[in-house]
Amino acid sequence: MQIKNIKFFYCKNFDVIAEQVKKRLVGQVLFKPRSVFCLATGSTPIPIYEAIIKDRKENYTDWSYVTTFNLDEYWGISNKHPQSYRVFMNENLFNHINISLANTHLPKGTGDVKKNINDYEQLIKLKGPFDICLLGVGVNGHIAFNEPGSSFEGTVDKVELTEETILVNAKKYFKGDSKKVPKFAISMGIGTILNNSRKIILVAYGETKFKAIQKLIIGKEDKKWPLTALLRHRDVEVYTDYNFENFSLNKQKE
Ligand code: GLP
Repeated sequence: MQIKNIKFFYCKNFDVIAEQVKKRLVGQVLFKPRSVFCLATGSTPIPIYEAIIKDRKENYTDWSYVTTFNLDEYWGISNKHPQSYRVFMNENLFNHINISLANTHLPKGTGDVKKNINDYEQLIKLKGPFDICLLGVGVNGHIAFNEPGSSFEGTVDKVELTEETILVNAKKYFKGDSKKVPKFAISMGIGTILNNSRKIILVAYGETKFKAIQKLIIGKEDKKWPLTALLRHRDVEVYTDYNFENFSLNKQKE
């Protein structure tokens, strides 16, 4: 199914999604060894990263010339903190493929905030654009840490997490302790993502994400649902287990 420039791929389970998206990313590396990727954290990309690691073991795909940028990093914790996105990326992907860690970039979560923001935006300009930007989506439709109401033109910035995101992340990653979840993050803006990505791949799996996917299927930009900014981009693929064949636009509008 296609809505504007967004192609939707229905996959019956996450194994299928992981396999499809892995093929996209590995295929890009084979096609262009010096590819630049924008990568996401969260539970969604983990099976994709596992599939990439398996491919590396079996097929020796060469990641040594690849550059990566991550969408975001918590603000106020060091890159050694077990819940930092730097540690997440190292443990779930980078340590298991032959990528050079020096070519993997995340915003800095401590230090001079203005400098960190500026440095990251400049580095993206220098090394980008991203051949593929891999996105997950929050239950409330956030992409990276651009929460509902964010500008669709925003650049890298320090952003405040909503209560909802803090609670979801507390449950998933901080043993339910929302006090331990940082309240801020440094995140690429929606504008950064849209303007620096040749192709965007959004992955959304499970019932908690259905509402966000429905908003995208409606096909209208809605500031309350940041992922609808993707309607502005010329090349987006969505991999989801949401069975959009049953989606009734009229029902949704009621
Ligand atoms: C975090 C990240 C997002 C991610 C979202 C969804 O808030 N900043 O980039 O897409 O979580 O996470 P999950 O995949 O665990 O549902």
